[in-house]
Parts: sequence; C-alpha cells; structure tokens
Amino acid sequence: MPLVTSTEMFKKAYDGGYAIGAFNVNNMEIIQGITEAAKELNAPLILQVSSGARKYANHTYLMKLVEAAVIETGLPICLHLDHGDTFELCKSCIDGGFTSVMIDGSHHTYEDNVTLTRKVVDYAHERGVVVEGELGRLEGVEDEVKVAAGEGSYTDPAQVQDFVERTGVDSLAISIGTSHGAYKFKPGTKPQLRFDILEEISRRLPGFPIVLHGASSVIPEFVEMINKYGGNMPDAIGVPEDMLRKAAQMSVCKINIDSDLRLAMTGTIRKYFAENPSVFDPRSYLKPAREAIHGLVAHKIKNVLGCDGKA
Ligand code: G3H
Ligand code: 13P
Ligand code: ZN
Repeated sequence: MPLVTSTEMFKKAYDGGYAIGAFNVNNMEIIQGITEAAKELNAPLILQVSSGARKYANHTYLMKLVEAAVIETGLPICLHLDHGDTFELCKSCIDGGFTSVMIDGSHHTYEDNVTLTRKVVDYAHERGVVVEGELGRLEGVEDEVKVAAGEGSYTDPAQVQDFVERTGVDSLAISIGTSHGAYKFKPGTKPQLRFDILEEISRRLPGFPIVLHGASSVIPEFVEMINKYGGNMPDAIGVPEDMLRKAAQMSVCKINIDSDLRLAMTGTIRKYFAENPSVFDPRSYLKPAREAIHGLVAHKIKNVLGCDGKA
C-alpha cells in the first residue's frame, strides 16, 4: 500500500469516536518504535515532520525511512508536514511526496491566514494532497515557532465556518488550552481545557475533523526518570489522558504527540548511561530508547486514542 491521505482515516475516526495519533518523527529509531507499535495493534497512523526535523534529518532520508515503514508494516500511513509556515515549504513537501500538509497561518491576521491557507489548499488539492489549517494560537515552544505565555489565544467559534468555507481546508487545528512542550500548566493548578469551545466549534462544523496540537500527557514515569538520572524538569506537566480520551470521543480526529516521545527517549538514554557508564556503542542505548517509544505509542493507541484495530 502506498502512503495515504488522512481523508478516510478521519471519516472513520469521526464516526467511530476515536482519534488518530500524529507522532513527530526525526530519525530511524523513532520511526521504527512508532510504526512497530502501530503494526502490533493494527492502528492507522500519521507520521509528521516539522521544518526542524526536515533540516535535521533531510527530506529524502525521512521520506525513505517512512516508505520503509510502509513496506514493513503494510499499514495505512499518512505523511504530514507539521506547522508549515510558508507556501514554499508546503509546496516543497507536496512536490516531495508528502500526502498531507499543515499551513499554520495562526500568527497572521485572520484575512492573511485565509489568503495563505487558500493558496496552499489550491496547490495541494490539485495534486491529491490534504491540508490542515489553524485558527487560534497555542502557547509554547516548538523549535521554529515560539509563542510566549499570555500571547496565545483560544479559537473563536464564530470564525470557524467562514474559515473552513473560504479556505477549503480538510481539517482544522484549534486552541482550547493545550500548549506545545513539557510545561503546559502552572504547577499546583488544575489542568483545564475549554471543552465548551470545542463543543461550539463541532456544532458549527458538523462532521468536520478537528485537530489537537500540544497534546502530550508528559508521562510522569519519564519525567521522574529524567530527574532521577541528572535531569532537571520538576515542573513538567501535560494534558491529563482522560481529557484526551474525551476529546477523541468528540470531533477531535487527530492528536499530536511529540514531547512524550522526546521524554521517553531522553529518560531511557539517561538511565542507560547512568547504569552503563563505560558503554559507547550507540546501538546499546538507542535500542532501549526505541523500545520505550514502542511501549509509549502502544499505550497511547490503546488507552488514549482508541484507534487499535482500526487500520
Ligand atoms: O509542535 C511541533 C513539534 O513539537 C515539532 O517540534 O519543531 O522542534 O521539531 P520541532
Ligand atoms: P506536544 O509538545 O504536546 O507533544 O505537541 C506536539 C505538537 O503539537 C506537534 O505539532
Ligand atoms: Zn503543534
């Protein structure tokens, strides 16, 4: 099976009350850990590449690694550009074989976001590629995109219908209180998401797939591992998993996860070096890191996304 778009995945996820995991990939071990877990559980999958990942690993290497995963797993896999910020970047990924792109115009004015998104949609749809747009701004840091605390804004439900109609996007990323990175909520406060905004958006866009960014749970087991073995992340707090499950049962069809993968990999490698200080073969520490990613993704598929058995 070749790479697929997310169209069919989202239709089934919307109707079935579950979500597809969109996992960020940067190298071979991450791709293998994710795709082996999805294969084991027969789950559909979105692998997403940020512009930072593309600079780090090179478009062709990532493309070929993902193609290898398609051959090895036989799963429906969608290859998606995460947070494309220009028409040129989206065009380059579309021309280079991606089946889905995000154009993140959320830092522009509303009208400029509409114009830029429409331009990407026209180019993508002519080539059979789907497009995710964004309305509202998430806080947090993701390599190229930095939004300071207090500068984020919730999605305005009054704008969503107009935005979807005028741009022709296939899915919409919204802001309801999640944020990028490992520090999502103030320590000592109760994490909260604006489910009332999500409900209102779904009411105005019946049947339309919604995307949740910044959706790592910041799994305490891995944060504790990092802190135990020389790291310093005491205030890391993520989105509680029951909230993600609730979103997946509603209109959220795509849940983005990157930080959890980073924490799993880093915690495992820190532990490995602490326990094996004289080992210097990279395979020795990358193998348990890959296994940790496998375990984490299997947990997300079964217990958070609910997409096991849906490939
Ligand atoms: O939300 C974006 C992802 O976490 C990607 O992060 O730009 O550091 O690769 P990155
Ligand atoms: P996290 O930082 O919560 O993993 O979010 C990732 C994301 O939204 C990628 O676009
Ligand atoms: Zn994101």
